Amino acid sequence: MKINVLTLFPDMFTPLQVSMLGRGLEDGKWDLNLVNFRNFTTDVHHHVDDTPYGGGAGMVLQIMPIKKALDSLENRGKVIITAPQGKTFNEEIAQEWSQEENLTFICGHYEGFDQRVYDLADEVVSIGDYVLTGGELPTMSMIDATVRLLPGILGNAASPVDESFSHGLLEYPQYTRPAEFEGKKVPEVLTSGNHQKIAQWRHKEALRATYLRRPDLLAKKELTKEEKEMLAEIKAEVEK
Ligand code: ADE
Repeated sequence: MKINVLTLFPDMFTPLQVSMLGRGLEDGKWDLNLVNFRNFTTDVHHHVDDTPYGGGAGMVLQIMPIKKALDSLENRGKVIITAPQGKTFNEEIAQEWSQEENLTFICGHYEGFDQRVYDLADEVVSIGDYVLTGGELPTMSMIDATVRLLPGILGNAASPVDESFSHGLLEYPQYTRPAEFEGKKVPEVLTSGNHQKIAQWRHKEALRATYLRRPDLLAKKELTKEEKEMLAEIKAEVEK
């Protein structure tokens, strides 16, 4: 997968170039093309923004440098604008995008885009109901969530199939040594060696975490008979 990012601040993107994603870049598992759309301006001062028609405070990012930067790309694939007014990004969107050959993100900064920039995009996507100073951090979050799903990025040890959201449930609690720390013990079942019991316990704890912290996710999920029974037990335990 090759990801293009149109940004005024390409230097911000170092977090994608270290750790697992960085290794993936080195190994050619994905590719990142950072394009500064200021390089596509034609005036001597390299302006990318101007005052809004109709008056008002602030500046508005102009369409021309962004359109020229887009036209310079070999393969743009799906074009995504990150903005608070977009639909909310989630794991399902990350999974969809991870199937694409190319993606192109357009990052705004400080100010809004000329409305006609939105016509250049296939999707407008937000990371939540809060406003950041620019689209760079949201873009990095979305790229991280998408690229980590590509084959060979997480390595053999971890599997994105067995984690939060992939089954519509939050993750079950995990423990490692020591078996007891400041009086807090690891649940006995996990050291029992009984794999069936461990799997059952994990399933129930994933349900419990979701019921307690994200009941909205449970409401969306179709529960099996076994899950319904577990949930009834959890509710009884909680009410005790
Ligand atoms: N740009 C500024 N705030 C944003 C948000 N919440 N999501 C996506 N892009 C943004």
